[in-house]
Amino acid sequence: MTDAAVSGPSLAVDLAPGHPRGLRLRAPVLMASGTCGFGDEYRDIVNLAALGAIVTKTVTPEPREGNPTPRTVETPAGMLNSIGLPNPGAAGAVRQKAPIWAELPCPVIVSIAAHDDGGWTRLAACFEGLPNVVGIEANLSCPNVSGRPSFSTDPATTEATVRAVCAGVSLPVIAKLSPNVTDLRPIARAAEAGGAHALSLINTLLGMVIDPVTARPFLGGGGGGLSGPAIRPIAVRCVYDVARVVDIPVIGIGGIASTDDALQFFHAGASAVQVGTATFREPRTAERIVDGLRRRLTARALPSIHALTTHALSSIRARAGPPAARRPAGGRRNGAPRPCGTVSTPRCT
Ligand code: FUM
Repeated sequence: MTDAAVSGPSLAVDLAPGHPRGLRLRAPVLMASGTCGFGDEYRDIVNLAALGAIVTKTVTPEPREGNPTPRTVETPAGMLNSIGLPNPGAAGAVRQKAPIWAELPCPVIVSIAAHDDGGWTRLAACFEGLPNVVGIEANLSCPNVSGRPSFSTDPATTEATVRAVCAGVSLPVIAKLSPNVTDLRPIARAAEAGGAHALSLINTLLGMVIDPVTARPFLGGGGGGLSGPAIRPIAVRCVYDVARVVDIPVIGIGGIASTDDALQFFHAGASAVQVGTATFREPRTAERIVDGLRRRLTARALPSIHALTTHALSSIRARAGPPAARRPAGGRRNGAPRPCGTVSTPRCT
C-alpha cells in the first residue's frame, strides 16, 4: 500500500533533509531495532507496506551468540532485557538477510554497533548499496555488552563515533542515543556535529531485577535495559529537551503503544516514532498507529503529519527562546549538507 493509494492526509516524512538523497518514508512510524528481527519474522503478520521502515536487530562486525538466559523479565509497566546483541555478524547479515530485505514491502534501516572508530567505518560500509536499505542506525547505546565502551555518554566520543560511521557510508546515518546520562542535550548536539542526519531517542534505561529466592540478578547478563510504558515520560522529556537544541529530525522511542502515545512524541518535537516493546504484545501495533494518525489528522483537518510536526516544533522552540538561548554549549549549526562517507569497498565478506 503506497501513500498515493491511501486517501486523506499525507503521512510522508523526510528524516534526513540535510542528506543529498534524504530519507523519505511513507509514514512516520517505524518498528524499532531489536523488536522486529531482520524483517522476515514479521512480514506475514504485519502489513509492513503501511510502515515507514523497519530497523533491524543490531549487526556487529562478527557474529554474536548473545547473553546467557534468561534474557528478559517483566517489570511494572514494562520489561527488562539483556539480550546481548545476538546476530549473524556483518558478513552473515549481508549474505543471509540482505536478499530478504530486498523483497520486503517497506524500506530497511540497518542498526549497527562496533568497537572502535575503524570498526564503525568498516561495518557501515558493508551496508552501502544494498537494495531497499535506506539508512544506518548507529546503536551507540546498547547497555548489555560487557566490556564494550559506551559511545553516547560523553560528547567527544559520540561525535567521533558518528563521524566514523559517516565516513563509511553515503546513506543517511541516524544516531541512537542512551538516556543514561545527566543531560542528553550536549550528547545530541555532538552527534549532530559528527554528521548524524537524525537522532533516535531513547534506548533503554539501565535497570536490574533481583530474584528474591536466589538473591541474585534475575537476568543471565546481570543488569539490563528497561523499556515499555514505564519509560515513556522519560523518553518524551528527552525528545522535548533535545528537539529544541538540534536542527536534525528526532525519532521518538519509548513505550509507544497507541496513537495517543505517538502523538505525545510528535507534540514534543519528534518527526517520527519507533514502536518497540509493544510489538511483543501486539505485533500490529505500529500498523495500527499509522491508521490512527491518519484518522486524527483527518479529524483535525490537517493536510499532513508534516503540518503537525512543524507546528509542534516551532511552538516548543518558541517556548525555549531565541536560538542562542536554546544552545547551551558549542557545536555546529545545521544547514550545510552533512558529511557522507566515500568508502566504497565492502570489507565484510
Ligand atoms: O541486548 C540487546 O541486544 C539490546 C540492545 C539495545 O538495547 O541496543
